[in-house]
Amino acid sequence: MTEKSLAREIEKRRTFAIISHPDAGKTTLTEKFLLYGGAINLAGSVKGKATARHAVSDWMEIEKERGISVTSSVLQFNYDGFCINILDTPGHQDFSEDTYRTLMAADSAVMVIDAAKGVEPQTRKLFKVCAMRKIPIFTFMNKLDRDARDPFELLDDIENELGIPTCPMNWPIGSGKDFKGVYDREREMVVLFSDTLKGTKEGVKEEIPLSDKDALLEALGSEAFDALMDDVELLDGAGSSFDRDEVDAGMLSPVFFGSALTNFGVELFLQNFLKMTSSPMPRVADSGEIAPVSDTFSAFVFKIQANMNKAHRDRIAFMRICSGKFNAGMEVYHVQGDKVMRLSQPQQMMASERHIVDEAYAGDIIGVFDPGIFSIGDTVCSPGQRFAFEGIPTFAPEHFARVRQIDTMKRKQFVKGITQIAQEGAIQIFHELNTGLEEIIVGVVGVLQFEVLKYRLENEYNVEIRMDTLPYGHIRWIANRDIDVDKISGTSDMKKVTDLKDRPLLLFINSWSIGMTLERNEGLELEEFSRN
Ligand code: G4P
Repeated sequence: MTEKSLAREIEKRRTFAIISHPDAGKTTLTEKFLLYGGAINLAGSVKGKATARHAVSDWMEIEKERGISVTSSVLQFNYDGFCINILDTPGHQDFSEDTYRTLMAADSAVMVIDAAKGVEPQTRKLFKVCAMRKIPIFTFMNKLDRDARDPFELLDDIENELGIPTCPMNWPIGSGKDFKGVYDREREMVVLFSDTLKGTKEGVKEEIPLSDKDALLEALGSEAFDALMDDVELLDGAGSSFDRDEVDAGMLSPVFFGSALTNFGVELFLQNFLKMTSSPMPRVADSGEIAPVSDTFSAFVFKIQANMNKAHRDRIAFMRICSGKFNAGMEVYHVQGDKVMRLSQPQQMMASERHIVDEAYAGDIIGVFDPGIFSIGDTVCSPGQRFAFEGIPTFAPEHFARVRQIDTMKRKQFVKGITQIAQEGAIQIFHELNTGLEEIIVGVVGVLQFEVLKYRLENEYNVEIRMDTLPYGHIRWIANRDIDVDKISGTSDMKKVTDLKDRPLLLFINSWSIGMTLERNEGLELEEFSRN
């Protein structure tokens, strides 16, 4: 393959995650994207909540039983000359550390917000991780076909709650039963709403230029027309203006209004989003930046999905390709394992099916069979190369439980099982400092992981456990290297623990105790993420 055609393949790639609070419309929006890409023919085929999600990944018994997807999946499709990879970040109870890790593989994020609700807790959490990586964040303000909050108020909400300035790219005209359409600011064009073609590709549209006042007045009615004229004036004077550099640096979020369900404003959003985002960017390794267009293949593991086949105890390692081209059967060097190997059964997700890939490029995600050698954050590259990508941070769990085996004779299996599951990154385990107690504290990002842990210990290690929920909700790593942890004086609700790597941490019940502990211990530095 020539360098030019390699560059062409990579330049058309866009790899992003969609983040939202459950029910804001992430699945509906994804489905409409797929519709434009021709990856599916009918709306409704991505989920029909229980059934299709099921089809995407019925790998684990627990998923089958509950009809939910435990880990995130990746969808690839083509649209308008672009090759799009959407990383799904699961919500509801299946929210886990994997959800955060998936964001490490994305180059940008689409944030879906329910316009009746504004910023919600899960949006806030996921946003924080995107902000940490400084990736571009685009907002789709959804459900304008329902009564929505005032658009100026919604923008304020994003700025105040998330601390990112916004730049409205289009502007809604009314909402709910008075929803008339959006005003496209760049083209100075009013796009009229029609939901008669609900769910189809054709969606829209009649367009009227802002300058054609008579036609607008007739189409909108005087009240909506006057309101729009007022808003346009306010917007031009007040809002942040579009600045590509700021967007690229994750310091300004372009906002689009629309309605995923009625397919209004979706294509407008998709087209602009694709134009405004860049193809895969260089990634930082210990040897410096690795450019995507390169003879050298490289990738890092961001997620490991364990035990898809109980009989084999196999795992799939999901990798984000950072540079070059991947060919099925090619030899790669696993840096952390110091071994040259072949990646077997490489696969990709296409709409709701897994299929074997023959080739993939920087920006793509592949899942490979893992005989138990990969860890999260590992690098693979072309043989002869030797560099490691920056590690994936450990994220603060939010739910804690004390866990012990019921049968004391099974202590050994219990410790082995829980340690292996923690090494895979499905849970985090902690030990109380200086108590000599053998009990293990488990921390998880989403409560479903407790069930996954119980299920896996019983089924894979034959150990039954007892779990007692602990009231802690906040954990912080101690960033200071030389500190006598014994001397840290905290609040009464604070507990000192160590993690799998023996790093000291503090657990708190109340969030205000964190500030108080910082005040009491001058120089103490606490972190919400732990960079390895
Ligand atoms: P999620 O993936 O973010 O959790 O949200 P999802 O797309 O499943 O949407 C949640 C609910 O909101 C769904 O309704 C969906 O139809 C609805 N919805 C999504 N976008 C819009 C929109 O633009 N306008 C309106 N009015 N509704 C929207 P549901 O009744 O909970 O589920 P379903 O039975 O329709 O699947």
